[in-house]
Amino acid sequence: MDIKALKSSNLKGKVSIPGDKSISHRSIILSSIAEGVSEISGFLTGEDCLATLNAFKKMGIKIDQHDGRIRVHGLGLNGLTKPSEDLDLGNSGTSMRLLAGLLSGQNFSSKLKGDSSLNSRPMKRIIEPLKKMGASISLEGDTAPIAVEPSKELNGISYELPVASAQVKSCIMLAGLYAQEETIIIENHQTRNHTEKMFEKFGIEIKEKYVNGQKIIKVFPPKKLKPTNIDIPGDFSSASFLIVAGLIIPNSEIIIKNVGINSSRTALLKVLSEMGADIQINNVKDDFEKTADILVRTSELKALVLDEDLVPNLIDELPILFIAASFADGKTIIRGAEELRAKESDRLEAMSDSLGNLGVEFKNYRDGIDIFGKGNFKSSVTIDSFGDHRIAMASSIACCMLDGANTIKNVENIQTSFPGFIETSNSLGLKAELLK
Ligand code: S3P
Repeated sequence: MDIKALKSSNLKGKVSIPGDKSISHRSIILSSIAEGVSEISGFLTGEDCLATLNAFKKMGIKIDQHDGRIRVHGLGLNGLTKPSEDLDLGNSGTSMRLLAGLLSGQNFSSKLKGDSSLNSRPMKRIIEPLKKMGASISLEGDTAPIAVEPSKELNGISYELPVASAQVKSCIMLAGLYAQEETIIIENHQTRNHTEKMFEKFGIEIKEKYVNGQKIIKVFPPKKLKPTNIDIPGDFSSASFLIVAGLIIPNSEIIIKNVGINSSRTALLKVLSEMGADIQINNVKDDFEKTADILVRTSELKALVLDEDLVPNLIDELPILFIAASFADGKTIIRGAEELRAKESDRLEAMSDSLGNLGVEFKNYRDGIDIFGKGNFKSSVTIDSFGDHRIAMASSIACCMLDGANTIKNVENIQTSFPGFIETSNSLGLKAELLK
């Protein structure tokens, strides 16, 4: 499936966007092992989160819909049952890494597999700490499928994360629920903290402190989890595509309503405002996850040198930041972003390919890129998304700044995180069409 994108101007209006992907995964996982019914509103029905939901259905959890909310009938910490087949997690790294942690603590065997992209992503990063905890878990070669066997018991470990990864942290925290004693995780760079927040919401005791720039998280194995109701805000990462569209497309003024603005996720706002963006955060609500309406107006952007420490905090927003940089005045320098190579595609490669096709001048590095903004943009371009949702959406926004009829190829995967991306964008005035 492809997208045809035409030059657009004048984006106007207010939109809501689908629920947060990270929070949606975690809401299903924890509700399933709570004792009783939890109700979830705003659940993201994208393919990634449905992969998590279906995995729990296969492990005996009843999940139904009621008044537009999802009801999860949790069966307690030890209530899951052995799935009758392998758990297929499609394209979803979050499902695979978080489930590997949880399943390490179960008394049945299971196998986790994914599509060709997921089956080639790095998984040793979770196997190493899980084995230290005593888990019986193995890969086929270096990657998924992952086989999990019941282990006699799990020990609590103290583990300093070698990569800044919320998925690795969350995997260990979930295994830690089944450990004999507390589990300690040390982060050198703070990653998204949705698991910490969700643990607290389900009544799990955790302690967090900051020592010499490190975050230390202690998880105490609970006796049980209390069911709860969860309102999931709009996904900031999905909002980021519309935010940059509003900034670069002429004469635009848009509002994106009820977006999650958890500070461990929103470094993009700080970076864009340093670049000169006119963005206002209104109607802030301090629920268990902070939310706000985001007002964006077309702005003259200028290049910047990205602070490497911010990278974990805007890792999913980097593809669209590359696009903002392409339309900014001057040379933007991005380093410390090697993790981009371990995503749904090698995003440094994929975005370089996209920028090249757009006519943007850039220079590649192992861990980043220099982007020379306001280049000689081409027209009627064709861009491959490499089957990666974020490359597809970032490239579509860029193409709406170009003359001619522009094509973005292989965009099916937008369904993994932002169902309705085209309809929502078009309701603001973007001229993009899905070609089936
Ligand atoms: C996620 C964490 C990030 C992010 C992914 C979702 C999560 O991955 O890229 O889209 O929900 O924990 P890493 O933690 O591997 O960087």
